[in-house]
Amino acid sequence: FSAQIDVATAAPLCDVPRRIFGTFVEHMGRSVYEGVYEPGHPTARPDGFRADVLALVQELGATTVRYPGGNFVSGYRWEDGVGPKDARPVRLDAAWHSIETNEVGLHEFAGWAAEAGLELMYAVNLGTRGMQEAADVLEYANIPSGTALSDLRRENGAEEPFGIRLWCLGNEVDGPWQIGHKTADEYGRLAAETARLMTFIDSRVELVAAGSSNAEMPTFGDWERTVLKHTAGLVDHISLHAYYEESDGDAVSFLASGTALDRYIEAVAAVIDDAGAGPGSERPVGISVDEWNVWYQRRWNEIDKPRVLTGEWPVAPRLIEDSYSVTDAVVVGSLLGSLLRHADRVTMANLAQLVNVIAPIRCEPGGPAWRQTTFFPFQRTAALATGSVVVPAVEVDSIDTAVHGTAPLVDAVATVDAGAGRVALFVTNRSLDDAAAVRIRFDQPGLAVVSAEVLTVPEGGDRHTVNDETAQPVGMRALDGVQLTAGVLEATLPALSWSVVVLS
Ligand code: AHR
Repeated sequence: FSAQIDVATAAPLCDVPRRIFGTFVEHMGRSVYEGVYEPGHPTARPDGFRADVLALVQELGATTVRYPGGNFVSGYRWEDGVGPKDARPVRLDAAWHSIETNEVGLHEFAGWAAEAGLELMYAVNLGTRGMQEAADVLEYANIPSGTALSDLRRENGAEEPFGIRLWCLGNEVDGPWQIGHKTADEYGRLAAETARLMTFIDSRVELVAAGSSNAEMPTFGDWERTVLKHTAGLVDHISLHAYYEESDGDAVSFLASGTALDRYIEAVAAVIDDAGAGPGSERPVGISVDEWNVWYQRRWNEIDKPRVLTGEWPVAPRLIEDSYSVTDAVVVGSLLGSLLRHADRVTMANLAQLVNVIAPIRCEPGGPAWRQTTFFPFQRTAALATGSVVVPAVEVDSIDTAVHGTAPLVDAVATVDAGAGRVALFVTNRSLDDAAAVRIRFDQPGLAVVSAEVLTVPEGGDRHTVNDETAQPVGMRALDGVQLTAGVLEATLPALSWSVVVLS
């Protein structure tokens, strides 16, 4: 089949919000312990963090990191993770039925994040705790000196404040699985008063109110309306969490996940507008897609959950270590496209998570670290999507899906960076069987192709092929046969593929 794509570089949507390339590290499973941190690993540094994992994190090129949860944060006492390590308490983590040793806490993680080049986005516990503890951790982290908590931070080794700007007001409070689950009114009032107090303490904080855990929540929409009724004018972002998976072999619907995310974002944006907090309002509320990814929740519900909820309380159990396929990587690429196409409303986003737990990077204790298939679309987009976003016009047939309605067979987004002299085009071919002959017209004269790469089924593999600790057959390879003549680029996108073309 064929597709026509028009890229009007002279009519950008908005600047690329670079925080859209955020990620997430939760105290969960082997994300922290046996993930980023493993004293005794051959590459471990004296501080216990793995150098090989850090190198892959740096290569991934994410911009921000949400920490320390997730569901975990709703039962977490931040002060357990500061001070001399040998005096830190060992606690039950009721969210994930695990033991939390508290070897890693705010100081260790903030240092690691700085080295990884990641802005820290810190979540406060509004599950079992409230305003006072949120105020305390803010004072500890951001006040330079001269108060009990800021001086305690200095005694604990951080002379300078951490200067954390981004704060999440709790996590997934709408979900009955959440420790300290609340109604929208209960949460809205607590979030509003916590926001007010945190802003009194440090007027530079940027605050994220918790939105819905997913678009299928029975409270979705009403939750946002009520929370914004209480918090508009006091917060800067409202969160949206979105996970997608292939169910019952229905890859056609799964590949259309990006259209579901489009609709989800647009629905939240409409509620923000109704609340009078849209663009142009006194204190606009952006959408923070705090958690997004492919996640095989069935595996969690049927395998991991029964295993950890047996009565044992393990340290760093293997939880939701999904192995991602070619299909999953193509979906991740198209979800990134959806985020970029809504960059006028999506102010930030976090690929959930970063290491081992539904992650682009996996590692084994004492063993190797490697790039999952989903690493590649994220890494290429984070590296190349700079400047402004351009939403191309795409003429192509649509497919009917059982779950997500109709979806165009090809989706595309572009970025234009005048400073770097670069145009980047990110294109997904959702067809499982057919290559797409695409003609892409640019309004900018004098462009030449710098590179053209594709992620698709590797030689000898199929759409289920994954990368594992012994072999990584899935990655970017050259997209052959790309031709640019008089501002029109012609290319053939393989079936089930995600491509990136760079021009300058
Ligand atoms: O990312 C895994 C979990 O997914 C998080 O802890 C929670 O916020 C969400 O349900």
